[in-house]
Order: sequence, then C-alpha cells, then structure tokens
Amino acid sequence: VRNFFIGGNWKMNGSVKQAKELVELLNGFEVPANTEVVVAPPALYVDRVNQGLKKEIKVAAQNTYTKASGAYTGEISPQMLKDMGVDWVILGHSERREYFKESDELVGEKTAFALDAGVSVIACIGEKLEEREANITEDVVARQMKAIAASVKDWTNVVVAYEPVWAIGTGKVATPEQAQDVHAFLRKWLADNVSQKAADETRILYGGSVNGGNCKTLGGKPDIDGFLVGGASLKPEFGEIILSRQ
Ligand code: 13P
Repeated sequence: VRNFFIGGNWKMNGSVKQAKELVELLNGFEVPANTEVVVAPPALYVDRVNQGLKKEIKVAAQNTYTKASGAYTGEISPQMLKDMGVDWVILGHSERREYFKESDELVGEKTAFALDAGVSVIACIGEKLEEREANITEDVVARQMKAIAASVKDWTNVVVAYEPVWAIGTGKVATPEQAQDVHAFLRKWLADNVSQKAADETRILYGGSVNGGNCKTLGGKPDIDGFLVGGASLKPEFGEIILSRQ
C-alpha cells in the first residue's frame, strides 16, 4: 500500500562541482516503480539540481519560513519553492531544532504554511540520547507529533521521518527492532489521534546512520517505509539504498 520513500538530505554540503557529479550519479540509478526518491540540496543548489535531475527524482528544500514574502532576511518561502517547481521541504530536522532553536510550535507553523502553499513536507522528529536513556522516547516523539498533527488537515502530503538524534551522523544506527518499535508506536499514535486512514497511508521513514549495509534489514521491518539519509546520500552507495525495497 505505502510506496517506499528514500530521502537524501545533503545538509550544508556540496559545491557546484559535487552537485553536478551527484546529479549524474542519481540519473544513473534505476528507481524501482514502488519507490519515491527526493533529494534535498542546500537552498542555493536546489534549482540547479532540479534542472539536472531526471523527472522520477524530486528535490526538496531543507527549510522554509512561515511567510510568503517580506522583510525576513535570509529566509525562503514555500511559495518560492512552488515558483521554482520544487514540491518538497524538510521541516523540523533535529539540527534546525538544536542549532537554530526551532520549537515544536514553529515546526508546526512551518508545516501548516508549507502544506497550504502546496508544498509536501518531510516532518522530522526524534529523541536525544539522554531522553532515550531516561525512557521517555515515546513521550518526546508523541509531543513532537502532536505539534505537527495540529497543523495538518490532510496527511496525503506529509511524510514523517523518525530520526533518533543519537543515531545522526554518529555511525550508531538504531537496531531494526529499536526503530520498528518507535515506528509502530507512531503509527498507533496516528490511528488514535488522527485517523486509521492516516495511520495506514502515512509513510514513516527512519533516519540516522543509514547506509548500504544496514538499509535492507531496516527496510524489511513492517512499519519502516523508507529512509532519510544524510552522509550516505552524498555517495554512490545511495544507489543501494534506493534499491533496498525492490
Ligand atoms: P546521517 O545519515 O548522516 O546519520 O544523517 C541522517 C539525517 O540527519 C538525515 O536527515
């Protein structure tokens, strides 16, 4: 029922040269019919990457603001993405929450505003190491989901990315069981708090040290519908990840 979804988050990485190389690499991958691929370059490179990619592969921005235009130096709007033919944005990434002090409420507002503008959202949530160790993972992700869900009327254009902060960029991937447990919790949360339809149809991605070696076992879990990939999305092994649910 749920198509597999592979997101590549380049974060603040790349150059004109590397973006060109990655576009060539991506265009060479055979994307399975059951899999959707979306890559998120830094804002400055989004258009060039979008122009270069074959049409099966979509692009995303890594952030948007809560206004269409105006005196908000440094920001971009979802309306501008639409104007450039960009249909996706990543919101609420833990790096934005941590380094740019984005609150649950702001992430919710950004989500509502992007969806209203017709931009689909990859909404990120996930607990920190100390929260996992304090056994409050479920409370944390439920709190983050609640702020997002309050902003979503139609879940068709939302993908949830569960990214435990301790697994991001650390090489410490969650075990398939750890990830599956949280994904099952999130799906039940959607069933209980939104609707059975949203629970059945919303893709829930795992992110955090996903690579060519661990993607198959993670992707074999019933509630893991794809990945949000950081480091490995800049490498040829991203091709293996795209094929992980073939
Ligand atoms: P890594 O795959 O580099 O751990 O990053 C994951 C991530 O944050 C994707 O958004």
